[in-house]
Amino acid sequence: MITYAPWADPRLARKPGTQPLDPANWLETGADTAGQMAYRRELIETEREVVLAALPESDGAQAELRDGVATHTGKALPDDPSPLGQVGRMVQEDFCLLEQRAEGEEYRLTAAILCFPSRWSLAEKLGHPLTHIHGPVPDYTDDLAKRVNRLFEGVQVGRPLWRANWTVHPTDELHQPSGDWRQAEDGPLHIRVERQTFLRLPRSQAVVFGIRTYVDPLSALTDAQAFALREALGPLEANEIEYRGGADLHRATLDALR
Ligand code: HEM
Repeated sequence: MITYAPWADPRLARKPGTQPLDPANWLETGADTAGQMAYRRELIETEREVVLAALPESDGAQAELRDGVATHTGKALPDDPSPLGQVGRMVQEDFCLLEQRAEGEEYRLTAAILCFPSRWSLAEKLGHPLTHIHGPVPDYTDDLAKRVNRLFEGVQVGRPLWRANWTVHPTDELHQPSGDWRQAEDGPLHIRVERQTFLRLPRSQAVVFGIRTYVDPLSALTDAQAFALREALGPLEANEIEYRGGADLHRATLDALR
């Protein structure tokens, strides 16, 4: 059994597909918690420059996020020189902080603890606004960009949102910190789902984008989920197939879902 199958739920499948979130359910654990937490701590120690990055202007939001996570979980603060390092050692979620430099400007990525990037480099995206960040994404249309920007303007303190996205990867590797993955591996197929949350911090007014990653073998899907995934893959256009891993992976996935 997998936890989320967003392609099979019409409310989540459409973009942006955000839903209200009970603040009590901001963070999520599961059967994968111990394994992911051990991997996070290892990455924070051995790949620190890759998984943690921050602009000085984000100092206030970082501390506010750290305090919020500690309060929410009731955990004692772990030993780490950076608030985001502390956060990364406490919970499974990765977090991006997005802040506006001036009213009406697009939100920018000002800091992140990102142990489990899905094929992107934090260093390449830090400091950039949302539309630029999504530059390589074929289905991030101008219309979607406008909706996402409005959504960011509208996130209210105490009323977080969530959405989910999915990709098929030929690996169960959680830490994929590069956009140059496309020719990379050729292993067993996995479904990777990100449960993404959007929460406004009251003091700094930053928006916290949380990413909780689930990876399961394609074989864990129920028949109905596998059928729905075939239906979702069917209408993808060539540039989307390319972006999502190429024609070979696309064909192999459809074959595996038969
Ligand atoms: C409602 C809000 C958002 C929507 C609808 C959205 C949509 C998407 C879509 C459709 C993709 C393509 C891959 C996929 O389907 O998973 C994508 C990729 C990505 N998104 Fe978002 N996104 C949102 C928010 C964010 C935020 C807040 C960040 C902050 C860092 C972000 C960072 C990225 C990055 C880095 C990629 C990979 C881009 C690349 O390949 O270089 N997204 N997003």
